[in-house]
Amino acid sequence: MKRSPTTVFSEWAEEGRDEKMAKGHEAAVSNMLDGVLKKYNSYRFIDAGCGNGWVVRLVNAHKDCRSAIGVDGSKKMIEKAQRIDPEGTYHHADLMNWIPEKRVEIVHSMEVIYYLKNPSAFLENVYNSWLTMGGILILGLDFYKENTVSHSWPEDCGVSIMHLFSEKHWIELFCKAGFKEVESNRFGVKENWSGTLILKGQK
Ligand SMILES: C[S@@+](CC[C@H](N)C(=O)[O-])C[C@H]1O[C@@H](n2cnc3c(N)ncnc32)[C@H](O)[C@@H]1O
Repeated sequence: MKRSPTTVFSEWAEEGRDEKMAKGHEAAVSNMLDGVLKKYNSYRFIDAGCGNGWVVRLVNAHKDCRSAIGVDGSKKMIEKAQRIDPEGTYHHADLMNWIPEKRVEIVHSMEVIYYLKNPSAFLENVYNSWLTMGGILILGLDFYKENTVSHSWPEDCGVSIMHLFSEKHWIELFCKAGFKEVESNRFGVKENWSGTLILKGQK
């Protein structure tokens, strides 16, 4: 029987698979951050679906970062993040319902939003209630229609919610949520791998 994404990822955290996952995402995330952090000389940052919080700690170390917050629906991932970084700010919450106390300039999310019940409603929520005017949302996704090698993941990982959308559909959802200057590109394309789909939009 398939289980909820956060149940599966809590198990990953207990088994230490979060660290291997972070390593696997490192190059794409570094590319994503390079593109957005330099646009601001002072910014607040949220990592939506932060896992063990590795991106929050990375960004918090930047001189121009005023605050970096991590949110994840897996209790074990958040406990791990807090154990590694007791001073850090990590929230255990479902991204479908959570709203930050203060709006931020940058929302980042790596390999998360296709696990949400309603990715379209989440994008609208980020646009309406998370971002400052001019703020940026940047997402990285490995599970998408054009990356055919990823199609077996829901079965392989036994995860109940995984929305398989095309690049074009993701762009449409960004536009529908209100984002402007919507851009997409693929990072790390190689044989039998269409790359990480990176999507960016501005409020
Ligand atoms: C593939 S992992 C990526 C973690 C992290 N971004 C990284 O790159 O290491 C997906 C994460 O999304 C979280 N997640 C899935 N559904 C969620 C939801 N509804 N609310 C909050 N977090 C969720 C999982 O708990 C998991 O930590």
